[in-house]
Amino acid sequence: MKTEAAYQKCIRPTCGAEFAVRETLFACPKCGDLLDVKYRWDKLDRPTNLAWFERRWAERRDPLALSGVWRFRELLPFAGRDEIITLGEGQTILQTADRVAEYAKIRPGRFHLQYEGLNPSGSFKDNGMTAAFTHARLVGARRAACASTGNTSASMAVYAAANPAISGLVFVGSGKIAYGKLSQALDYGVRTLQLVGDFDACMARVKEVAARFGIYLMNSVNPFRLEGQKAIMFRVLEALNWEVPDWIVVPGGNLGNSSSFGKAFAELLELGLIKKVPRLAVINAAGADTLYRLVNDEGLRWNGGAVDDAKIDRFYAAMDAAGRRAKTLASAIEINRPVNLKKCLRALDLMCGVVERVTDQEILDAKAQVGRGGLGCEPASAASVAGTRKLVERGLIDPAERVVCILTGHLLKDPTATVAYHTKTDAELAETYAPYGVRAAAFANRPIVVEDNMDAIIKAMEE
Ligand code: F0G
Repeated sequence: MKTEAAYQKCIRPTCGAEFAVRETLFACPKCGDLLDVKYRWDKLDRPTNLAWFERRWAERRDPLALSGVWRFRELLPFAGRDEIITLGEGQTILQTADRVAEYAKIRPGRFHLQYEGLNPSGSFKDNGMTAAFTHARLVGARRAACASTGNTSASMAVYAAANPAISGLVFVGSGKIAYGKLSQALDYGVRTLQLVGDFDACMARVKEVAARFGIYLMNSVNPFRLEGQKAIMFRVLEALNWEVPDWIVVPGGNLGNSSSFGKAFAELLELGLIKKVPRLAVINAAGADTLYRLVNDEGLRWNGGAVDDAKIDRFYAAMDAAGRRAKTLASAIEINRPVNLKKCLRALDLMCGVVERVTDQEILDAKAQVGRGGLGCEPASAASVAGTRKLVERGLIDPAERVVCILTGHLLKDPTATVAYHTKTDAELAETYAPYGVRAAAFANRPIVVEDNMDAIIKAMEE
């Protein structure tokens, strides 16, 4: 790998400013737009077909071949072998999930769950964090920071704990983050600031702090994060024997994942490694539906890179004027201003994408179905399954199509939501979650309270 063959480039075609890979930038210094990592592929060694990567399976003693990100390193070649920081992330599986397929209204054998909960910190974020930490080391960063709804902070905390040369600083909204995630940040010893405010406030502040003190930013505005997240798609293709599915369905929050998936497929096409791209469905929570509204109500499009900035500004101004704030039980995606909005529009454009939104009731029901199907996930992840069901009902996805839903985070990330769903009566649930519109737990597996005597136990076993 040759570092000089990689560079950074502004995504705005009318700007297109380029910067060296060793610069630490989180927005274009010329126009303020997002940056991409780009490659001069003709200067790089690269495989002529995707099956080429299978040779790495025989080299698993090498941490870079074991990593589900770096075994594809020829497709994200911005760092040298010795510069890479890895924790063996990406040992995830694609499960053919017939039981959940029935709920999602897809034919058996055609529905798959890409389970990113198996990562070291229990979410897909580790795919990006290994790449961002690698870049942070490349530029000699000593301090790193992120704003988070929980998973980014958990992931950053793991990588910072394993790499003491880079210390971490986390901004989380107070009362906004699920216990599984908060416990990770605290236990891994990262300095954790609970801001009196929501995720968007954390995001604004962390950008300010990063700029003022030269701290390396680990959020997905960092283009190197997205390079690592491309590997989720490489592994999906690998598990499908390098065949492209019909649909990729993913929850949308800050829109880093959807953006990186689009970039992955754009590059695979450019390199001639695939012939077609799947369609993309991004699923918002109904209580945090900025993307849904901008795309479906306001008609916002990538438009060859000439995105209508004024339309976005007007939308946010109206949102603030109305005091409308994101509110969803899927706290991971409780976001008002998704930072990767434009890159996501680009991905939707390339992948003939659609945006759907699902209620918290739909999310919790789908989550219970995913659990019964054998893997389990946190609420935000289940938006992908709830969204698939809705898109089939709306006739956008055909039940015979091959669908891959990304399960972004582990079941244990948010035990509160799960235990509430399974233990509260419907009346209690409706009261507790009134602001979220949750009324009943159709798939509750209620624990049975039983007296400490054998007759009662036998009766409870058989009922
Ligand atoms: N699912 C989970 C479990 C998440 O933690 C997130 C984002 C998303 C989906 C949305 O992904 O931002 O790429 O669209 N969590 C971020 C965080 C915001 O701070 O942990 P996205």
